[in-house]
Amino acid sequence: MPSGRYGASMGTYIRKSLESVAAYAPGEQPREATVVKLNTNENPYPPSPRVLEAIRAFGVEALRRYPDPTCTALRQRLASMHGVAADQVFVGNGSDEVLTLCTRAFVERDEAIGYFDVSYSLYPVLAELQEVARRPVDLGPDFAWRMPADYQAALFFLANPNAPTGIRFDGAQVERFCRGFSGVVLIDEAYVDFAEADCVAIARALPNVLVARTLSKSYSLAGLRLGYAVGPAPLIEALQKIKDSYNVNAFTQAVGLAALGDLEYMRTNAARIKATRERARAALLGQGHQVYPSETNFLWLRPARLSAQEVFAGVRRHGIVIRYFPGAKTGDFLRVTVGTDADMDRFLAAMDVVTGRAS
Ligand SMILES: Cc1ncc(COP(=O)(O)O)c(C=O)c1O
Repeated sequence: MPSGRYGASMGTYIRKSLESVAAYAPGEQPREATVVKLNTNENPYPPSPRVLEAIRAFGVEALRRYPDPTCTALRQRLASMHGVAADQVFVGNGSDEVLTLCTRAFVERDEAIGYFDVSYSLYPVLAELQEVARRPVDLGPDFAWRMPADYQAALFFLANPNAPTGIRFDGAQVERFCRGFSGVVLIDEAYVDFAEADCVAIARALPNVLVARTLSKSYSLAGLRLGYAVGPAPLIEALQKIKDSYNVNAFTQAVGLAALGDLEYMRTNAARIKATRERARAALLGQGHQVYPSETNFLWLRPARLSAQEVFAGVRRHGIVIRYFPGAKTGDFLRVTVGTDADMDRFLAAMDVVTGRAS
C-alpha cells in the first residue's frame, strides 16, 4: 500500500498548504420548492425569451465539436457594448473564473493581493489558494471608502458596488486610487446593472485597470456561468494565455450571446428590482431596522431588537432563506436578496413577526 510522499497520515497526497485553507462557503441551495430564496443574489425573474429561443435552437450536434476557444462572437458583441476592441475583452466561466485567473496572471509569489474588509468573501480565499499574502484594507465607519495613503499590492479586488454592503464607491475616488496604485485593479462590477454609475471608462483609460461583469445577476443566468472582463489589451492577453483552452462551453456561448442581444429586457428587469428594493428598504426602515442604501439587488441591514443570527433563524422558520455572515465585522448584519414584490411581502411580514413588532 503506497503511503504518500509526506508519510502515512491522512491526506498525504494533497498539497500541504491546502490543509489550512477554508474553502469559500456558497449560500445554501434549499431543496424545498416552497422556500423563498433570498440568499444568493439570484434574479427572481426568468431570463429573456431570446434565451429560451436560443436553447431550443441549440442542436445537440453542436456538442460533438469543441467550442470556439476564443469566444469570438461573444467578445465582439461585448466589445461593441462597451466601446472597446475585441482584444480588450476576456470571457470566462462566470466572473469567479476571471477573478481566479487574475490572481495567477498579475501576482508574483512574494507579492500581495488586496481587497476591502468587508467585501466579497471569495477574494481572501483566492489569495490563499494562490499562496500569496493578503493585504486587506479596513473600510471606514458605515463601510465607507478608506484607503491608507501609501497602500500598495500587486492586485486589488475592488467590488463596486461593494458586496455584501450594497454601497457604491464614488467613481472619482476609484479613479484617483487606480491612478496612484502600482498594481492591477480589478473593479468587480457584478451588481452594476442595479447601480447609478459604472467604471468602464476607467478601464478604457488606464493601463492597470480591468472591469469584471457577470450575467449571473441582472441577466438571470447564474446557472449558465458566464462572466467577462474589459480593459487594456495586454492585461486581457495575459488572461487569454493562462485560461483553459475551452473555458467557456458551446452552450454557454450560444445562450449568452442571445441574452446580450436583449439588453432592453435585462434593463427592464433591473428597473423592476430596483423599485422593489426601494419599497422593501422603506418598509424595513419603518420596522426600525438599520438598512444601508443599496445600488445592488440586495439589502444590507442591522436588525432591531434581536441579533442578526436570531433573525436569520427566525425567518428561516417562516420558509425564507437569507444570508448571515458570521464574523467580527459582519456578524451584526444580514444580507437579503431582492426578490419579486410577493417574495418581499412575505419577507417583510416574517420580519414583522420575528423581530417582535406584530403580535
Ligand atoms: C462581488 C461578486 N463578484 C462576483 C460574483 C460571482 O459571479 P459569477 O456568478 O459570475 O461567478 C459574485 C457572486 O455572488 C459577487 O457577489
